[in-house]
Amino acid sequence: MDLLTFLVLTLSCLLLFSLWRQSSGRGKLPPGPTPLPIIGNILQIDVKDIRQSLTNFSKVYGPVFTLYFGMTPTVVLHGYEAVKEALLDHGEEFSERGSFPVFDKISKGLGIILSHGNRWKEMRRFSLMTLRNLGMGKRTIEDRVQEEAQCLVEELRRTNGAPCDPTFILGCAPCNVICSIIFQNRFDYKDQEFLNLLEKLNENTKISSSPWLQFCHTFPILFDYCPGSHKRLVKNDHHIKSFLLEKIKEHQESLDVTNPRDFIDYYLIKSKQENHSQHLEFTLENLARTVSDLFDAGTETTSTTLRYALLLLLKYPHVTAKVQEEIDRVVGRHRRPCMQDRSHMPYTDAMIHEVQRFIDLVPNNVPHAVTCDIKFRNYLIPKGTTVMTSLSSVLHDSKEFPNPETFDPGHFLDGNGNFKKSDYFMPFSAGKRICAGEGLARMELFLFLTTVLQNFKLKPLVHPKDIDTTPVLNGFVSVPPSYQLCFIPV
Ligand code: HEM
Ligand SMILES: *[C@@H]1O[C@H](CO)[C@@H](O)[C@H](O)[C@H]1NC(C)=O
Ligand SMILES: *[C@@H]1O[C@H](CO)[C@@H](O)[C@H](O)[C@H]1NC(C)=O
Repeated sequence: MDLLTFLVLTLSCLLLFSLWRQSSGRGKLPPGPTPLPIIGNILQIDVKDIRQSLTNFSKVYGPVFTLYFGMTPTVVLHGYEAVKEALLDHGEEFSERGSFPVFDKISKGLGIILSHGNRWKEMRRFSLMTLRNLGMGKRTIEDRVQEEAQCLVEELRRTNGAPCDPTFILGCAPCNVICSIIFQNRFDYKDQEFLNLLEKLNENTKISSSPWLQFCHTFPILFDYCPGSHKRLVKNDHHIKSFLLEKIKEHQESLDVTNPRDFIDYYLIKSKQENHSQHLEFTLENLARTVSDLFDAGTETTSTTLRYALLLLLKYPHVTAKVQEEIDRVVGRHRRPCMQDRSHMPYTDAMIHEVQRFIDLVPNNVPHAVTCDIKFRNYLIPKGTTVMTSLSSVLHDSKEFPNPETFDPGHFLDGNGNFKKSDYFMPFSAGKRICAGEGLARMELFLFLTTVLQNFKLKPLVHPKDIDTTPVLNGFVSVPPSYQLCFIPV
């Protein structure tokens, strides 16, 4: 057999095989564009703008459709009704984590964000309980965030009103909050070890949102055999993890079981208890991954939201003026803003909701999967199928939020200027897998933003009209364009 015949035969076999696989599963799966053998629908999806591609498909195939990333089908849910029906009405069935090939290689099924089944349940329950315990301790999380907000203001004062790119300063504050929850200390904003850590987190967010990485998710084989930015992702993750392992080691040496100081202490105590009952989920490896998950999930998300918020406040000075007027009236200049103030500050609350709605930080959510074969609408989704929920389609719903592409705090206010809740507010997702740090994140956004606006006037370097707020990346998270501004003390 010559080489050509061999190649033709092999290719035909592959082609037939993939067509067969697709047709055998397709009868029951939701409709979708016809996939090509091996590569699936990848050529029909704009990896630079997955969000828009999904919107386009939903117009043709409806709110529930199937896309093939490579040879594996992903069911996409688009629009409030479908997303709510899955994540809330069928919460348990849709609570599994979908495959996320590149990150799965890093997390190895440990931790909380990408873990599965029973391990996920245990880690999630423990983490939520511990965050609550720490919030109710002597030094509550609110105190800690308030203190950090003051440190943030001090650091911004040091810029002396000169133009600066706020990325790193705004990264330090949320990162310090996570640090103090996990291992009870914060870092100086100039600390080199701290800055290295932040740089790695920031770089990983950028890499995670690049088109190349979306490509690697589709063809995981690239991951092992190609050079590329995904290798840096792994290297950076190792750096972060070894830093955390060092902290864990220190904690093991100084642990006092009667007086837990932080998340790591609570975990070590729990693992001692569980070890007695031969229940071995609470391993050290799982601890390292869980705390590194809290870092990954808790630092860049919050800091990107803060950075985007300031950009929007520069672009819309009339919004900023109203927020500052409300801060002046409710908090004044002489005390620190606290969470109790929020209920008296409907405009500020609406502004923060609107920032989160408008920027749509995690457009397609983290992938879910179904825990069992499930009949959904008129389709049958087989156990383990990846489910992508478009949070974007919920946050930018034009019936709930008229002119969804316009930044307008009025989306969350009623006719009398009172705060108006919306079931469509899902930047943290919904259901069993909803962001485990939602309460903390909302506290940080409120306290950091009000404290900064209490102390500074924000001055743009260009005319607000010329500020572009379109995200520069929106693969996994939406990243705002970089910009500079001046913090002028009031
Ligand atoms: C503005 C800030 C934040 C946003 C927009 C955000 C958003 C999200 C989203 C969309 C998910 C995926 C939910 C799902 O799978 O359905 C998630 C998961 C998660 N977030 Fe957040 N998050 C933020 C801040 C935080 C913070 C501060 C923490 C730290 C405590 C945190 C910890 C987590 C964890 C541990 C998960 C995984 C939950 C699970 O798989 O059960 N997040 N977040
Ligand atoms: C979506 O559809 C519009 C209009 O049909 C088209 O111009 C645009 O390029 C499409 N976008 C993507 C990302 O597929
Ligand atoms: C559990 O206990 C055994 C013996 O009692 C010990 O060797 C092991 O290191 C413990 N594991 C953990 C995670 O503490």
